[in-house]
Amino acid sequence: MKYFAIFGDPVEHSISPLMHNYLFLHSNIKACYSRVHLKNGADLKEMFVKLKLKGANITVPHKEDAYLACDEIRGFAKIARVVNTIIYEDGKLIGYNTDADGFVNALQEFEGIKKVLIIGAGGTAKALAHRLIDEGVNITVLNRSKDRLQYFKKHGIDCYSWDEFNVDKTDLVVNTTSAGLSDENLPAPKELLERILAQTSYVSDIIYGKTTSFLKLVAQKKIPYKDGLDMLVHQGALASYLFCDKTIPIDDITDLLKKAVLLK
Ligand SMILES: NC(=O)c1ccc[n+]([C@@H]2O[C@H](COP(=O)([O-])OP(=O)(O)OC[C@H]3O[C@@H](n4cnc5c(N)ncnc54)[C@H](OP(=O)(O)O)[C@@H]3O)[C@@H](O)[C@H]2O)c1
Repeated sequence: MKYFAIFGDPVEHSISPLMHNYLFLHSNIKACYSRVHLKNGADLKEMFVKLKLKGANITVPHKEDAYLACDEIRGFAKIARVVNTIIYEDGKLIGYNTDADGFVNALQEFEGIKKVLIIGAGGTAKALAHRLIDEGVNITVLNRSKDRLQYFKKHGIDCYSWDEFNVDKTDLVVNTTSAGLSDENLPAPKELLERILAQTSYVSDIIYGKTTSFLKLVAQKKIPYKDGLDMLVHQGALASYLFCDKTIPIDDITDLLKKAVLLK
């Protein structure tokens, strides 16, 4: 039996166990996937080893700690320095990032995206910013605190806190904050969001499983939007592909995970 888990704080909202266990069941893989409520990201490696995991996903707010916990980093996670998937291989923790590709795969129905405003400056914002820049997209980051903007400044990415931001026309606004995840908070002051929404064609909130206060506001403005469920499926499919040692085709995994989330 192989064991997998998702680490986060909070983690109760996560439907990753539903997705991955459904895949294991329908692919005759002897494995089990559970949730671990981890308060301190610095304890991640110790917990991973203690639980004898073959692999794990990492969610809010531990993705940057996950990068530090790994013995080796592969692929896109090397650039973003943010890890959401860990595989145990030959006694080492190998870190990957599947969020950014998952996000891009989930965005297909929004056409002509050349300019994106990312709200939030945490681990996921970093990964999405780098991935979208790779696609030739112009990125601006808006965040509550100034501290987290240092990273984006260092990488030459336009970034602002609420009080210094001048609203401009954009194709897509993405909420990557955890505001709204387990509360009814908006990701920025309502008056600022109203001005931002007046100048965008599309909106994405990467939180899934609920209509956040932000998406309720977006719906009132009749702007096309999507929540984070498709991103969850696509990042999960890429993670599962690694969990299953790349033995199952990614399209088959994606189809099974899409079926799994319908059970919710
Ligand atoms: N759908 C998916 O597959 C998927 C994948 C990845 C992540 N997510 C979701 O993405 C969100 C962020 O995850 P993460 O790992 O990037 O988190 P993180 O690294 O902890 O970053 C959190 C960000 O949210 C901001 N924030 C928190 N509370 C806020 C509030 N009340 N008002 C305004 N800003 C606030 C923080 O701003 P400060 O700097 O001011 O603190 C920070 O920029 C979570 O909700 C997570 O569930 C979804």
